[in-house]
Amino acid sequence: MKITVIGSGYVGLIAALGFGIKNNKVICVDKDKEKIKSLKKGIPIIYEKGLDKYLKKCIEEKKITFSTDIKKGIRESNIIFIAVGTPALNNGDVDMTQVKEVINDISKYINEYKVIVNKSTVAIGTQKYIKRMLNDKGISNEYFDIVSNPEFLREGKAFDDFFNTDRIVIGYDSEIAKEIMGKLYKNFNKKIVYTNPETAELIKYASNGFLATKISFINEIANLCDEIGGNVEDISYVLGLDKRISPLFLNAGIGFGGSCFPKDTQALVKIGKKYGVAFNVIKSTIDVNNKQRIIPIKKLLNHYKDISGKIISVLGLTFKPGTDDIREAPAIYIINELIKNEAIVKCYDPNVSRKIKEIYPQIEYCNTPYDTFIDSSCAIFCTEWDEFSKLDLFKLKDKMKEPLIIDGRNIFDYKDVKKAKINYFAIGRGYIYK
Ligand code: UGA
Repeated sequence: MKITVIGSGYVGLIAALGFGIKNNKVICVDKDKEKIKSLKKGIPIIYEKGLDKYLKKCIEEKKITFSTDIKKGIRESNIIFIAVGTPALNNGDVDMTQVKEVINDISKYINEYKVIVNKSTVAIGTQKYIKRMLNDKGISNEYFDIVSNPEFLREGKAFDDFFNTDRIVIGYDSEIAKEIMGKLYKNFNKKIVYTNPETAELIKYASNGFLATKISFINEIANLCDEIGGNVEDISYVLGLDKRISPLFLNAGIGFGGSCFPKDTQALVKIGKKYGVAFNVIKSTIDVNNKQRIIPIKKLLNHYKDISGKIISVLGLTFKPGTDDIREAPAIYIINELIKNEAIVKCYDPNVSRKIKEIYPQIEYCNTPYDTFIDSSCAIFCTEWDEFSKLDLFKLKDKMKEPLIIDGRNIFDYKDVKKAKINYFAIGRGYIYK
């Protein structure tokens, strides 16, 4: 099939390459000339496992072309995916500016029937809104159908999620569009759920809202464990044995970040407000998460009372491992608090250097984790990068001024910390040994 994907950001690029690998002819369009120039040369513009491999393969096998020419993109394909950014506005609404721009372009260049597919996470009612917008611009319904096809990719596992997804959701209101979308996804051999567009749009929010709620729930259980001497990992394990609950997304820690859960939970509250649904569950999920992110600071100030002038190491700056994304990362909130409390911050992340230096020119960025520990009074671990669990705790202790670890992701093994005689606080594992 001939597909155009408009927007070469995270969602757009993965979808464009994914459809290319699945033997479609794909045009990936973006107005950002630099991005397109780089992609044409096969140079990835974001960090994602497998991206360079799939980019190279699609280019070599002529499955994909990159272009800034939106007219060509619209005219030469029969399916047009909209995958532009839909960031949150300050008031929690979804910013639809880029989607509107694309619709405007489609109205200018559309020349024959197209299926226009929404991949971006959009405001509820967008399918109908786009339809109205095109009609208002003089484009009649026989020229297009609008489909909602939300994506469920996780950063760091995006290609795996794309090819091995649990479900494909198609929100449609025309049998032709349903048939075309069914054909497009046929060779995925996955469960396709057909529903109306509003339901498809809401499924994405419901899915992210539920997963975020699972995390905040287990984090509150963890906080209680810390008070009563319980172990949240045993609780997560036992909960996960119940098939009705599932073991995934029950890892306690310093909360969720990234470009999706924080934004989509806020948007869900906003949508609820518009339609008179209180969404108290989601409000609490957000509230718990806001507090959870800075729990290491609470534990640190409990231990030292005053941290001004102390060197504090922050390890893991991305919102999770396997990405270079620091959006809404708990580490950022922690660094802000440390600076507020006049601590001297040293940090390390295997994947992020330039960006963090731009945001915080005053903090020291180290090239190895061990460099951050030199003369430090506390090491706060914010992301569970693999390399952290392999650290030599004796070496770490030797370098530190005062050996204290605050493990925000329950990375370390109890026994190892005990052996190294390090002061250690984790999340929901109680206080361990001097
Ligand atoms: C999330 C969803 O998982 C995807 O299905 C969805 O497509 C995507 O949002 C989106 O809307 O685009 P992502 O934000 O990439 O994906 O990351 P997740 O792996 O879901 O993790 C989100 C946050 O939750 C991270 O900060 C992670 O550390 C935290 N988390 C996750 C926990 O604290 N505990 C867990 O058990 C799982």
